[in-house]
Amino acid sequence: MSQQHSVITIDGPAASGKSSIARLVAQRLGAIYVNTGNMYRAMTWAVIQTGVDPNDGEAVKRAAEGIVIDSPVVDGQTQVSICGRALTQDDLNSDPVNRGVSLLARVPEVRARLVADQRALASLGPLVMEGRDIGSVVFPDSPLKFYIDASEEVRASRRRAQGHTDQVAERDRLDSTRKTSPLVIPEGATVIDNSHLTLDQAVEAVLAKLPARSTASESQ
Ligand code: DC
Repeated sequence: MSQQHSVITIDGPAASGKSSIARLVAQRLGAIYVNTGNMYRAMTWAVIQTGVDPNDGEAVKRAAEGIVIDSPVVDGQTQVSICGRALTQDDLNSDPVNRGVSLLARVPEVRARLVADQRALASLGPLVMEGRDIGSVVFPDSPLKFYIDASEEVRASRRRAQGHTDQVAERDRLDSTRKTSPLVIPEGATVIDNSHLTLDQAVEAVLAKLPARSTASESQ
């Protein structure tokens, strides 16, 4: 069996700031940063390209079976490619993908496949992995779990500042109420309210909770 390295899990609702925090924590620790939302976004982008409606679970399941998704590590973070094509931030954050991603993320077969891919990444090296179910489902045994929250107003204004049309409240409703792996605060997670912290303060809040000599470079 391949070696499993340590994984710091970071979950939270849309636009809570968890991606920026996770990326910087990974840099500070020399770990690989994994944005699992981008894997769901890439799958959504690819399904839309096939002409399938993300709301049609059966059709999504069938379309996803024919889609090859890879997560190569480039400059310390995973990228996503679909059938060999590296996706850009414009692809991943387009309005159709924003609208469809929470619908596709409800489909259990799609989740099972991406969860297996996410677990396999732990053989590459220490990880900081962020998403919705990382501490609850993907790596429930990790001792290093965080949940980053922020008020709905702050999250909506962050998305507007990024220039995206993104109904964060609706995505949160879908993500928190779906049957398979809904967004929850994982057992044992440290909750950080990021409504009024600077990025540096939020990163320090995570680093301060890590055991003094246990950096992500140590294996579990
Ligand atoms: O992190 P994000 O907002 O880019 O994620 C996009 C969507 O992907 C999110 O609304 C729900 C889904 N997602 C998920 O279901 N599980 C994850 N681990 C990560 C994202």
